[in-house]
Amino acid sequence: MRVLVTGGAGFIGAHVVDALLAHGHEVRVLDLLAPEVHPGGWPDHLDPAAERVQGDVRELPAGLLDGVDAVCHQAAVVGHGLDLQDLPAYVSTNDLGTAVLLAAMARAGVDRLVLASSMVVYGEGRYSCAAHGVVRPGPRAVADLDAGRFSPGCPVCGADLTWDLVPEDAPVDPRSVYAATKLAQEHLASSWVRGTGGSCVALRYHNVYGPHMPRDTPYAGVASIFRSAVARGQAPRVFEDGAQMRDFVHVRDVAAANLRGLVAGRPGFGAYNVCSGTPRSIGDVAAQLAREAGGPEPVVTGEYRLGDVRHVVASPALAASELGFSAVVDFADGMREFATAPLRA
Ligand code: UD1
Repeated sequence: MRVLVTGGAGFIGAHVVDALLAHGHEVRVLDLLAPEVHPGGWPDHLDPAAERVQGDVRELPAGLLDGVDAVCHQAAVVGHGLDLQDLPAYVSTNDLGTAVLLAAMARAGVDRLVLASSMVVYGEGRYSCAAHGVVRPGPRAVADLDAGRFSPGCPVCGADLTWDLVPEDAPVDPRSVYAATKLAQEHLASSWVRGTGGSCVALRYHNVYGPHMPRDTPYAGVASIFRSAVARGQAPRVFEDGAQMRDFVHVRDVAAANLRGLVAGRPGFGAYNVCSGTPRSIGDVAAQLAREAGGPEPVVTGEYRLGDVRHVVASPALAASELGFSAVVDFADGMREFATAPLRA
């Protein structure tokens, strides 16, 4: 199969390219090579066996889809951004870019798409109350956070809640511009599926980590922030009480999920959690990385960010049953490699 990977020079995209080539597929990469992301041009670790096209998803170069059987759409502006002045850039690249791509695919008769989505479409994770079952806590109150009450209470009785694995049919609740653009991408792709009879596998990535992750920037997730601190010989700074739960999934597993999404032959539109299935606390991740790097132990600061959710961890069951994808990289092995792996400058 010949696959177009948009954003193929990026952190996840380049690993997807490796996975596709390793399985005998032909790969064409489209990447903007934005100077703030790739100041040195094409990254050295991008496999030269992939055909390279520099360009913008919003203005697709002529002939880009010639001979292409499927598209793996990774190109996006990621992270939570700085402030609302980022809003047009997110919507333009992520949503207009997807719209332009889908229209071009419809014209070219390319009917298979894998879309990089995100767990951020859920907002908060899933919670249960002993008395009231599955409940949806409201936004976290400043007064609670200031008092060190980081975990949301039951919206009915106020009792402590337990966290649970989020299934794909959980209600969506995008809480940032980025999250809104990722959900809009899913909706656009779903409309495209209905209009063309094509198929789309949307992969809701959880907290991805691994070699060539970008260094810490205002757009980076916590794995990169902790890894960058460790590289400077500093202690990772753990917010809240460190007990907040996430699912850290290795980038090679994420690449494998993309491969499964492309070849599984699942019809219609489907969204899938891409996660390891073994939730970890942020405190544990910081401690593991610091240990593996031989650096100072993490500091639990009690700081918080109002926009953060408390826990979000997911069920890997649907991706296993419908795509045949299960993560295989062990957490300890993955973090050991990550502690000294190269980061993108
Ligand atoms: C992250 C990404 C999100 C992405 C998702 C899935 C960002 C900012 N967030 O969401 O875009 O879609 O993973 O891949 O890119 N924390 C610390 N110390 C720090 C920074 C953060 O303890 O220095 C804590 C936060 O308070 C939070 C947790 O780590 O509780 C996770 O933070 P972060 O990775 O930024 O956000 P996610 O919600 O996991």
